[in-house]
Amino acid sequence: MVKIAPSILAADFTQLGNDIKSVSTADYLHFDVMDGLFVQNISFGIPVLESVRKFTDMILDIHLMIEKPLRFVEKFAESGGDIITFHVEAETPENIRLAIDKIHGLGKKAGLSLKPETPAVEVLPYIDILDLVLVMTVDPGYGGQEFIADMLPKIKELSDIINIRGLNCELEVDGGINPETAARCIKAGANVLVAGNDVFNSHDRAAHITLLRGY
Ligand code: DX5
Ligand code: ZN
Repeated sequence: MVKIAPSILAADFTQLGNDIKSVSTADYLHFDVMDGLFVQNISFGIPVLESVRKFTDMILDIHLMIEKPLRFVEKFAESGGDIITFHVEAETPENIRLAIDKIHGLGKKAGLSLKPETPAVEVLPYIDILDLVLVMTVDPGYGGQEFIADMLPKIKELSDIINIRGLNCELEVDGGINPETAARCIKAGANVLVAGNDVFNSHDRAAHITLLRGY
């Protein structure tokens, strides 16, 4: 089953509640946290998550684009995140395992993300204990960028590994997703599609979410 995760980075923050309601037929709500160090941008964090958590029952899909995420994974889990994903480039191997354990210890799902230049092999030591792998299909930091088609072989490689090993691990893609790139990612094996601008700029967001799913 293909899942759609609208990214509220593309929402109108003066209308955040209405914008969240407008995408409530989606599967997850994607929440991009940027610290100005791991990426060249700053977005929003825990106080906003706490408000969003009170407002919606949607599954909150947290994407931490921050340095040394071990410091914060528990806080994001306790503040209402359901899936906590952080970047493999942002922590030491030992701390990556500790962070996954902390997330699981709070009964939440743990994900690891890869920047476009990071090869699939970097997440393989952890893939057996992950609930989700997130392949960035743009350089993290900004919405509205063009999909990097060179990421398709990496998506296929990870999809094959997940299937061959029979893992219960979702494969998410993030960046430049529209109906055309969504179809290519699904064909390569992705099952969760993050979409920011494409969903929030459409006139009928619910219909657009259905269109992205492809059925
Ligand atoms: C980029 C973020 C994305 C972003 C996607 O660093 O991780 O989630 O919101 O935006 P679009 O879909 O507009 O490329
Ligand atoms: Zn994201």
